[in-house]
Amino acid sequence: MKHWLEEPILAIETSCDETSAAIVKGPNILSNVISSQITTHQKWGGVVPEVAARAHVESLLPVVEEALDNAKVTLEDVAGFCATNRPGLVGALSVGVSGAKSFALYYDRPWLGIHHLEGHIWSILGSNPNVKPNFMCLIVSGGHTELVLVSGFGKYELVGQTVDDAAGEAFDKSARCLGLPYPGGKLLEELATNGNPGAYKLPQANLAGFDFSLSGLKTAVWRQVDSEGATLRREDFAASVQESIIRPLVKQTFRAMESREISVLCVCGGVSANQKLRNEFQKEADRRGAELYFPPLELCTDNAAMIGIVGSLRFGLGLKSSFDEDVSSQADLPFL
Ligand code: KG4
Ligand code: ZN
Repeated sequence: MKHWLEEPILAIETSCDETSAAIVKGPNILSNVISSQITTHQKWGGVVPEVAARAHVESLLPVVEEALDNAKVTLEDVAGFCATNRPGLVGALSVGVSGAKSFALYYDRPWLGIHHLEGHIWSILGSNPNVKPNFMCLIVSGGHTELVLVSGFGKYELVGQTVDDAAGEAFDKSARCLGLPYPGGKLLEELATNGNPGAYKLPQANLAGFDFSLSGLKTAVWRQVDSEGATLRREDFAASVQESIIRPLVKQTFRAMESREISVLCVCGGVSANQKLRNEFQKEADRRGAELYFPPLELCTDNAAMIGIVGSLRFGLGLKSSFDEDVSSQADLPFL
């Protein structure tokens, strides 16, 4: 990537339940502060949109101040402000976007609304600054499971996606069935560590194209837990669930790469923090002689640094958003 803005920018991420601010200067992440609302939402077993928006209002300015302090940068030094403006929870997004726009107006700087998934894609540069298109990107998060062919910065083609639940949702809902608190993905992974992934036969969708389906698994998990009750071998069951989520992801992704003759793969998003997933993708990549990259662990789940990476590249191309540009709950990836 040759078109980084060389001056520091401030990035804000508030699309779901993390309030995050980062200072990014060219390809360098000078700070990345994340305040999680998880404990606030745990008592409801999931994210409550109104509660999330309110918590973002409370956390935003302290998080921005900490990001500036950690980077030893002042607001006057910031050359541009950006925030995730789509897709996500509208009330939550509005908090970060209003903050970025207000700073930009006050300091007479440009502002940019960033697509959350474009952030996840380029989080890969946080650990692999030399990765270059063309590559296939599998985004696996709590809200999304998408296969995107990246043929340049801003050049994205959606090759496949989930037709029902996202991979993170499958982890979280299965974890909930096992009585684990929200978000249960990481806890389910821990429970699965010593389990036998072949112990329980659970459905793995086998779709003809490059799409994914995880709702059948969700129903089977619920039925099994309900029928077996206290006799359920929890570690074996968690390992089997994890296997049934990961296996189709690996299969469809490499099938899509083969059909498009792509040999470089990036796997991003919250679920890409899962070590079993990393190992399974690595085994298949080695078998096929493909290159495989993951973001650093701290850039897998939602964070503002990945938004800043995209902001720095977009500002570097001379792009900026209109102050009329609003937030949106759904949005296709932008195409330049
Ligand atoms: O990217 P992210 O922070 O938020 C969205 O954009 O949705 O992803 C959050 C998701 C949650 O579903 C969480 O349970 C899952 O990522 N997750 C994991 C792991 N760490 C986070 N799932 C499985 N194994 C993990 N280690
Ligand atoms: Zn995300």
